[in-house]
Amino acid sequence: MTLSPPRLSRSVYPRKVPSIAFAIGGLTSFIIFASLLLLSHPLGSSLTGYLYGTETTQHLEFHHSSSRDTSDPNPSPDSTINSPPLLTQHREESTEALPTNHVFVEKEDSVETECDLFHGNWFYDPKGPLYTNNSCPLLTQMQNCQGNGRPDKSYENWRWKPSQCDLPRFDAKKFLELMRGKTLAFIGDSVARNQMESMMCLLWQVETPVNRGNRKMQRWYFRSSSVMIARMWSSWLVHQFNEPFSFAPQGVTKLKLDQPDERIMEALPKFDVVVLSSGHWFAKQSVYILNDEIVGGQLWWPDKTKHAKVSNVEAFGISVETILKAVAKHPSYKGLTILRTWSPDHYEGGAWNTGGSCTGKEEPLSPGKLVKNGFTEVMYEQQAKGFQRAVEDDKVGNRSKKMKLMDITEAFGYRHDGHPGPYRSPDPKKITKRGPDGQPPPQDCLHWCMPGPVDTWNEMVLEIIRRDMEGGGSRP
Ligand SMILES: *[C@@H]1O[C@H](CO)[C@@H](O)[C@H](O)[C@H]1NC(C)=O
Ligand SMILES: *[C@@H]1O[C@H](CO)[C@@H](O)[C@H](O)[C@H]1NC(C)=O
Repeated sequence: MTLSPPRLSRSVYPRKVPSIAFAIGGLTSFIIFASLLLLSHPLGSSLTGYLYGTETTQHLEFHHSSSRDTSDPNPSPDSTINSPPLLTQHREESTEALPTNHVFVEKEDSVETECDLFHGNWFYDPKGPLYTNNSCPLLTQMQNCQGNGRPDKSYENWRWKPSQCDLPRFDAKKFLELMRGKTLAFIGDSVARNQMESMMCLLWQVETPVNRGNRKMQRWYFRSSSVMIARMWSSWLVHQFNEPFSFAPQGVTKLKLDQPDERIMEALPKFDVVVLSSGHWFAKQSVYILNDEIVGGQLWWPDKTKHAKVSNVEAFGISVETILKAVAKHPSYKGLTILRTWSPDHYEGGAWNTGGSCTGKEEPLSPGKLVKNGFTEVMYEQQAKGFQRAVEDDKVGNRSKKMKLMDITEAFGYRHDGHPGPYRSPDPKKITKRGPDGQPPPQDCLHWCMPGPVDTWNEMVLEIIRRDMEGGGSRP
């Protein structure tokens, strides 16, 4: 494929864009072959055993390697037991037609006046990030790429430019002022934690917060403005249990796809803005239940003569619809709900344990270089559809105006440079280079370095909150 010359967008910005400006085209493009999912679980309960050979159930779309990787790049503080990353390879023939375009679901009247934040391009900003690994005490070591010895640094400097407007740099004072007296909660898995910690690092630069956390919820309080930032772990956002159910035994995680995670429902009245996200755990083992019937299972399906009715990709879409409807109908939550879309990973040329790698990526991809990632595409599509179904639900009524899709998947498909890669631990003996056999070192190409591209998510959150609270669309 011939590359068209990069679309230079120098003239658009006040700042100088160095040699290559990466323009983002309309195509949804993704990376070849693999999705490697490295997530951790707070309980670590469902991860071992029960690895029924799903390869033989044609209807389930993923292969799985059950080998445990001792080099699990995910020493998360959320987990007491590290879980093996799971390999997922998508076989596209078993799913619906792939989307050619991203789905747009914002339906407000004001939509014409609001600039679309999610299509644009990355540009190099020599000003650099708003914090460093030395100025943020709340930085998980796994995301501390500089502290872990990553030699290049320019990945910290790329900023996102929506086509029709500017996305302002994160303004911590403005954020705290807008949120005065309110609570923002991040709910989801370890990628949600990544975003929450980015938010904390950004805010920490103007005020040291007070730790008000407990075992159930991480919480930080900003005295000057009475703002609380909270984080709740919920891997799937729907009701989860381990007890035996129908033909599924004890110990295998079961998900009621039509019931929200009740812990979220209980906590909601305390929140004013909620950022929800999920997805990667749908590659892990679990059993799917709809209307009290087992309809499918990921890496668990005992009766190989029968097809599962619901694949893990479909289960994901259903779970998104369930949680959003439940949040919208909650009698005592009137807040703003933001669904952050699927965060793309970048294991190129394989998966986490089959030579997949993001080693040595120092700049964002240019559009012509993008390769589809089928799993990212279908997961994104199901998520967007689930969101749309919830917004269009009659009973949600005008509450749907308080539901926003933060559509980051396409933009972040270009940021293969933003992951820790092999720089996921401070271990001085860690392997960071390819071996003589060409094998790349073990690495994390799912989470995001901090500072790094993930900070952009919080610039978007601030802009979405600003629009909601101040009304009005694009900035002057
Ligand atoms: C931050 O990164 C620098 C390298 O850029 C490193 O020397 C320093 O030790 C790191 N600090 C922390 C707290 O990780
Ligand atoms: C829609 O909003 C209006 C006020 O803005 C309120 O009076 C009305 O009850 C709402 N309708 C529904 C179905 O929630």
